[in-house]
Amino acid sequence: MPVMRIDKMLSNCGIGSRKNVKNLINLGKVTVDGKLINKSDIKIDTDKNSIFVDGKEIIYKKYVYLIMNKPSGVISATEDKEEKTVIDILPEKYKKFNVFPVGRLDKNTVGLLILTNDGEFAHNTLSPKKHVWKKYFATVLGIVSEYDVEYFSKGVLLENGELCKSAKLEIVKVLEDRTNVFVEISEGKFHQIKKMFAATGKKVLYLKRVGFGGLTLDEKLAEGEVRELTESEFKSIFNIF
Ligand code: URA
Repeated sequence: MPVMRIDKMLSNCGIGSRKNVKNLINLGKVTVDGKLINKSDIKIDTDKNSIFVDGKEIIYKKYVYLIMNKPSGVISATEDKEEKTVIDILPEKYKKFNVFPVGRLDKNTVGLLILTNDGEFAHNTLSPKKHVWKKYFATVLGIVSEYDVEYFSKGVLLENGELCKSAKLEIVKVLEDRTNVFVEISEGKFHQIKKMFAATGKKVLYLKRVGFGGLTLDEKLAEGEVRELTESEFKSIFNIF
């Protein structure tokens, strides 16, 4: 709902508490469509009215969509008693939006993680019906062969009896005792990539998510860094151009 009280809107935008906002209004620092206001309970429409505080336009954002290059050693949860979470490492300016990670990466997996406070978006990206493919780079102990590529495309049978959907496996480089690969999956079973390789007798040594739908990890984003998605990046997730 874009219609709300001005003090709530400004407070949500991080201008200050409702009391601080009231003070600013009393000091004559807040305008709505160019007119000074003197009450903190007036209703505004965040889509239609233009709101300025101290001469600076305040754009209301209900939802935020962040891209993080998740480092190893933090868990994909909002809170935990023992472990450091991806929320703990967010810059302060994003913490007030109450974001949560969209899906999970293991503690030792690095790479592309989206965080948002938009539950519907998160649900859609994770829904099997939407076919959002996730792409990983992995270093696997053992020699990955064309046989494995075919097996992944047919659907790997995990050791626990679960059958995976068809996955794309690409061999990047075979090293002495290990293989670098790209793997793309369209579902998100717990520890899926590790379990798929375990089913072929191999161990994942390093795992990095590099793609989420049409979105690719920005290599300029250092591990632990986070920023807002651009509009075109956002659209690329569902390949909407
Ligand atoms: N598959 C895994 O095994 N781990 C991850 O973190 C993501 C996919």
